[in-house]
Amino acid sequence: MSEKPWGGRFSTATDTLVEIFTTSVHFDHRLYPYDIMGSIAHAKMLAKVGVLTQEEGEQIVDGLTALQTEIEQNQFPWSIALEDVHMNIESRLIEKIGEVGKKLHTGRSRNDQVATDIRLYLRHEIDNLLTLINNFLTQLLTLAEQHATTIMPGFTHLQSAQPITFGHHLLAWCEMLVRDRSRLQECRQRVNICPLGSAALAGTSYPIDRHYTAELLGFSGISNNSLDAVSDRDFAIEFLSDSALLMMHLSRFSEELILWSSPQFNFIELDDTFCTGSSIMPQKKNPDVPELVRGKTGHIYGHLISLLTLMKAQPLAYNRDNQEDKTPLFDTVETLNLCLMIYTKMMGSLRVNIPQLYQAAERGFTTATDLADYLVRKKIPFRDAHEIVGKIVRYCIEHNCTLTQLELSQFRQFSPDIQEDIYTILSLEGSVQARQHWGATAPEQVRQSIQRLRTLLRS
Ligand code: ARG
Repeated sequence: MSEKPWGGRFSTATDTLVEIFTTSVHFDHRLYPYDIMGSIAHAKMLAKVGVLTQEEGEQIVDGLTALQTEIEQNQFPWSIALEDVHMNIESRLIEKIGEVGKKLHTGRSRNDQVATDIRLYLRHEIDNLLTLINNFLTQLLTLAEQHATTIMPGFTHLQSAQPITFGHHLLAWCEMLVRDRSRLQECRQRVNICPLGSAALAGTSYPIDRHYTAELLGFSGISNNSLDAVSDRDFAIEFLSDSALLMMHLSRFSEELILWSSPQFNFIELDDTFCTGSSIMPQKKNPDVPELVRGKTGHIYGHLISLLTLMKAQPLAYNRDNQEDKTPLFDTVETLNLCLMIYTKMMGSLRVNIPQLYQAAERGFTTATDLADYLVRKKIPFRDAHEIVGKIVRYCIEHNCTLTQLELSQFRQFSPDIQEDIYTILSLEGSVQARQHWGATAPEQVRQSIQRLRTLLRS
């Protein structure tokens, strides 16, 4: 047998540069658990349908199991001359168990093999990511519960808008993550389809049992078209797209944490363990972790674009371009894992400056809308009420005071309908309490949402 498993047709050796250029084993070696898993299922299936004898099947399975140990113990002789993880493992199997090892690749191609490996890998990683998202959500829900009544300014245009509870703000993040979670759950269904049996592109002439292979590998179904199964990577693109959205959310959270931890806002303090200092300015404590999460988001968007571009001009069926699908996937998985783990930990040690949040909510006439709503309850049409309150706010700005610092008599100059009860209406507590419906900021609503989300996470 020539050195390359495909060497029979060739009269000269591969150019060294080409070997370096075409190899993928330096990155796809990490698919080895899935490659071995897929090969074991394939061998068992071949033995079941009689293409291999039972004994041959067992020898191959035992050989592959031994290789797994060899790899885990760092004893495996990876070779770039053998291109990729698939040929490295197959060649080593033949080296170890002899002639019978040469029968493993019967009725199979690296094209359906690699498609299977990536699907198994992604399925595993999606499950892991779902656990990490759940952990992060659990942490956020704990924090939201602690701050169900903590008042802060809500913003639009980064200008103080209306008082909200900090718990409610955190629950907005939770809702985004819950959607990210369900997107990944849906993506998993499309990932969990077995392409094995598609062989190179057309299927195989052996009497294979595709359902049996799929069942052994825990796939929920088998692919319907061999050309499609070996070539499309839409499931991977979908995963990257879901990942890009998740990173976009983490990046938005990062932006807020960075702003909030600045001395100008001073809403929160990140624990020292999550910050770094400056080599010149002794006073600095910088929020590098959220900054890096925000920064790494760009990589993930890039990976999505890179896979979309990889696929856009490929004729059916498999093309070697597809080998380039792996590094974007691996880097995305690694980045998401780290970001989610670090954020879960970081939020667990977050210090919230409750008095500062409260004082910030008191600035900027954040209860002006409540005053307008009060006038509406006194039968003044909303547009007129808006106009009246606008004038009151201007008066306060000119006299450098807050709404609650006005005397009742001063209020009455703008509208005789205003009574003593206006001061409760204008309080921050009164404002958040008034927003008592599904999805709003009142503490009771926040607590109910927390319960709902906790139940969802258990499902
Ligand atoms: N290393 C290849 C990949 O990742 C495996 C499939 C190669 N198939 C082939 N016919 N050259 O896509």
